[in-house]
Amino acid sequence: MTTGSTTGATSGSDTDDPTERAEDTVGASEPDGPPTRAGGPLDGPDAASPPGDAADDAFDKDALPAPPGATGALLRSLLAPRRVRVVLAAVLLLLQQAAVQSGPLLVAYAIDRGVPAFRAHDYGPLIAVGSGYALCAGAAGALQYAFIRASARVNQDVLLDLRGRIFRHAQALSVDFHERYTSGRLISRSTTDVESLRELLSEGLQELIGVVLAFAYISAVLLWLDLGIGGMAVLSFVPLYLLVRLYQRRVKAVFMARSTAIAAVIVKFAETMNGIRPVRAFRRERANDADFHVLNHRHQRRNGDALLEMARYVVGSRLVANTAVAAMVLWGAYRVAEGTLALGVLAASVLYLRRLYDPIDRLGMFLNSYQSAAASLEKIAGLLAQVPTVPESREPRELPVRESGRPGREVVFEQVRFAYRTGGEVLPRFDLTIPAGQTVAVVGSTGAGKSTLAKLLARFYDPTEGRVLLDGTDLRDLAVPELRRGVVMVTQEAFLFSGTVAENIAIGRPEASRADVEQAAKAIGAHDFIVSLPEGYDTDVRKRGGRISAGQRQLVAFARALLADPAVLILDEATSSLDIPGERAVQRAMDTVLQGRTAVVIAHRLSTVEIADRVLVMEHGRIVEDGPPDELIGGGGRFAGLHRAWRESVVG
Ligand SMILES: Nc1ncnc2c1ncn2[C@@H]1O[C@H](COP(=O)(O)OP(=O)(O)OP(=O)(O)O)[C@@H](O)[C@H]1O
Ligand SMILES: [Mg+2]
Repeated sequence: MTTGSTTGATSGSDTDDPTERAEDTVGASEPDGPPTRAGGPLDGPDAASPPGDAADDAFDKDALPAPPGATGALLRSLLAPRRVRVVLAAVLLLLQQAAVQSGPLLVAYAIDRGVPAFRAHDYGPLIAVGSGYALCAGAAGALQYAFIRASARVNQDVLLDLRGRIFRHAQALSVDFHERYTSGRLISRSTTDVESLRELLSEGLQELIGVVLAFAYISAVLLWLDLGIGGMAVLSFVPLYLLVRLYQRRVKAVFMARSTAIAAVIVKFAETMNGIRPVRAFRRERANDADFHVLNHRHQRRNGDALLEMARYVVGSRLVANTAVAAMVLWGAYRVAEGTLALGVLAASVLYLRRLYDPIDRLGMFLNSYQSAAASLEKIAGLLAQVPTVPESREPRELPVRESGRPGREVVFEQVRFAYRTGGEVLPRFDLTIPAGQTVAVVGSTGAGKSTLAKLLARFYDPTEGRVLLDGTDLRDLAVPELRRGVVMVTQEAFLFSGTVAENIAIGRPEASRADVEQAAKAIGAHDFIVSLPEGYDTDVRKRGGRISAGQRQLVAFARALLADPAVLILDEATSSLDIPGERAVQRAMDTVLQGRTAVVIAHRLSTVEIADRVLVMEHGRIVEDGPPDELIGGGGRFAGLHRAWRESVVG
C-alpha cells in the first residue's frame, strides 16, 4: 500500500521526451512520413523514372498544394507594402540599362562621323563622343549603385517578413498539422526555400529584367540604325526565344524534383538527430545510413539532371548566337563593300549583338534561380494556406468568474465522437460529466483512448461530432487565453524550453514573482533538487551542468501546472518518470494541489487511484466501468480484477 507498483507501467517508465517524439519518426509508419519513402521501395522506380516523379511530388508538394492563385497573392502581399521602393528600383534599372546600352551607338557615331571629321581637323565630334561615353559609364555606375541600395532594402524586408510569417503561421497551426508535416519540412521551408527566393531577389531578378530590357532596347536601336540589320537581329531572337521556352518547361520539373529531394535529405537528417537515442538504442544506424544514402544520391541525381539541362541549353544558345553573329558580319561586310551600310553601323550592330548574346548563357542560370524560387514560393504558399483545424473562435467568450475557494469547473463531454485524421474512430459516441472539483482517475489498457480524451479536453483537437463543455461553454467558443488558463495538461513528456528553471515554472503565469515560483516548487517537492543545481532557480536547463533528469523535468512541469492555477488539471502519466518516493511525494502534494480543482488523472500505476473520487475504466474508447474506487473494488468488474492484481504485485 505504501509502495507503488511499476508492473502496470508500459511506455511511461522508460520514456522521456525526446524518445517519445522519436518513436514516431523511427517507427516510420505514418502514411506520409518521409522515412517510409526513404526506404527501399522507391529505389527501383526512382532510378529509371523521369525527373519530378510522382513519389517526389507526393512526398512534399502534393501533401500541401498551394491553392490556385495563392503564390501570386503571397508575392503581391509581400511586395505591396514596399511598392514605392519597388517602383523606384524599376525606374533606376530602366535608366541604368539606357546608359549601359548607349555605348555601341557612340562607337558607331565615332567611326562614321568622328573619324572623318577628325581627318578634316574637326575634333568636336570625337571629343563629344568621348565625353558622352565617359558620362554614360559614370551614370551607369551611379544608377547601378542606387538600384542595388533600393532593391536590397526591399529584398531584406521581404525575406524578414516571409520567415516571420512562416514561423508565426506554423506555430499557430493545430497539433494534427504538426503530426503530419514534420519539423524537418518546416525547417526546409524557412531555410532552403527562403534562401532560393533570396538568390533570385538579390542576383537573378536584376539580371533577368536587365536581359529583357536589353533585348527591347537593342532591337529598337538596331532597327532604327538599319532596318535590314535590325530585322535580322530580331529574327535571330525567335529560335533563341523558343530555346528558352523549351528549357524553362523542362527545367521546371527538374527543379521541383530537386528541391523536393533536398527537402527529403533535410527531413531525414533532422529526424535522425532528433531521435538519436532510439537510433542508438535500436541500432538503427545502419538502416538510417542506407536510407540517407538513397536520399542523398537522389538529390545528387536531381542536381545532375538540372546541370545537364543547363548544359544543353548553353550549347543550343551559343550555336544560335554565333550563327547569327557570323551571318550578320558576312552580310554586313558585303553591304559595306557595296556602299549601302556605314562601317560604324556594322561595328555597332556586331557589338550590340555580342552584348546581347553574352548574358544568354547566364540567362539560363537566372531562369534556374527564377524557377527554383517559384517552386519554393509555391511550397511556402501551400504551407501558409493551411488553416488551423482547431481555429480560434470569432466571437470568443469568457467564463464566469470562479468563486473563491471553488477553483474547479464542470466538464461535460456531450455525445462526442472522435477520429484522428489518419485513422479510424477512437471515441465512438461518448458522454461524460465531471462535476466541478471532482478528481477522476482514468484507467484502461494501452490504446483505449485515455490520452485522446485528455487531448480533447485540452482542445488539442476538436471532436468530430458533439461538444466538450467547460462550465457549460463549448471549448470552441472560448477565448484562447481563457482556455489556456482554464485547462492545463501535464504529460509524461514534460518539455522544458531553453531558459532558466524559474522561467520554465513561470510559463503558465509569466507575471508570477520569484516567491510564487518557489512556493509552487516547494508544494510539489521540487524545491530541494532545484536549489542543489549549480545556479539554483537561475540554472539554464539547456546548458552544461543544468541538465536535469526525466523525473526532475516532471517535477518542474508539475510546479508549472500548479502555478498556472487552472480550473481543470489533466495529468497524463505525469508521474511515470518519478521514482517511488518521488511519486509518493507528488501524490501527497496532490491533495493540496487538487483541492477543489477538477482533475483528470490518467495512470497505469494504480496507487494514483487512491486520491480519486471516482474511477473510469476505458476500453476501446468506451467507459466500461464508472464509480467510486471502493465500490468498484468491491464489485466483480474489470477494475476489481486490475486492483487485485496490483495489490498482489505490491505485497509480493
Ligand atoms: N496522433 C494520432 N493519430 C492517429 N491515431 C492516434 C493518434 N494518437 C493516438 N492514436 C490512436 O488512438 C487510439 C487511442 O490512443 P490513446 O493515446 O488515446 O491511448 P491511451 O489510452 O492513452 O494509451 P496509453 O495507455 O498507451 O497511453 C490508439 O489506437 C492510437 O493508435
Ligand atoms: Mg496515453
